[in-house]
Amino acid sequence: MPRRRVGGPRSGAAVEAGQETVPVRVKINGVEYSHNVEPRLLLVHYIRDVVGLTGTHVGCDTSHCGACTVLIKGLWGDGWLAVKSCTLLATQADGKEILTIEGLAKNGELHPLQRAFWENHGLQCGFCTPGMIMAALGFLLRNPSPSREEIKWGISGNLCRCTGYVNIIKSIEAAAKEMREKGTAI
Ligand code: FES
Ligand code: FES
Repeated sequence: MPRRRVGGPRSGAAVEAGQETVPVRVKINGVEYSHNVEPRLLLVHYIRDVVGLTGTHVGCDTSHCGACTVLIKGLWGDGWLAVKSCTLLATQADGKEILTIEGLAKNGELHPLQRAFWENHGLQCGFCTPGMIMAALGFLLRNPSPSREEIKWGISGNLCRCTGYVNIIKSIEAAAKEMREKGTAI
């Protein structure tokens, strides 16, 4: 039976008395959530402050860094799409399925992308890593056998302030190979 959580916002996205709210129902990492939120609440703040999944980061106020990237199913077309969750309102994700970095590991096993970042030193401070991995996954779902140039283009919307791009690209190449060999997707 699907797990389900219902409720008002947690403290980080508190709604004041008399304030207008709208209902949002989403499935995140296989769990259904249902809340009443402010109409202007951004999806990234819904995920972090209302649902409490803080692996999705906020690194800018300008939609440039990609630290907030998640996958959403059915937003445009049927498949999964990597989206900067600070560029959407929570209400725009109503009825959709969302995958965040917390939903990648299965049965205690890291996803090939997570393991490849670990094994290839694809992170330094790690702040960009959740968004980088989710962007890479969205990209690899569309292009499972990318060239190095295509990988660079695929993650061009994500910034690493530690500038560890060489090992990030190496990690994505290694993960792509393993995902092809094992037939891993999400
Ligand atoms: S927080 Fe920087 S792009 Fe979303
Ligand atoms: S590893 Fe530090 S921001 Fe990318």
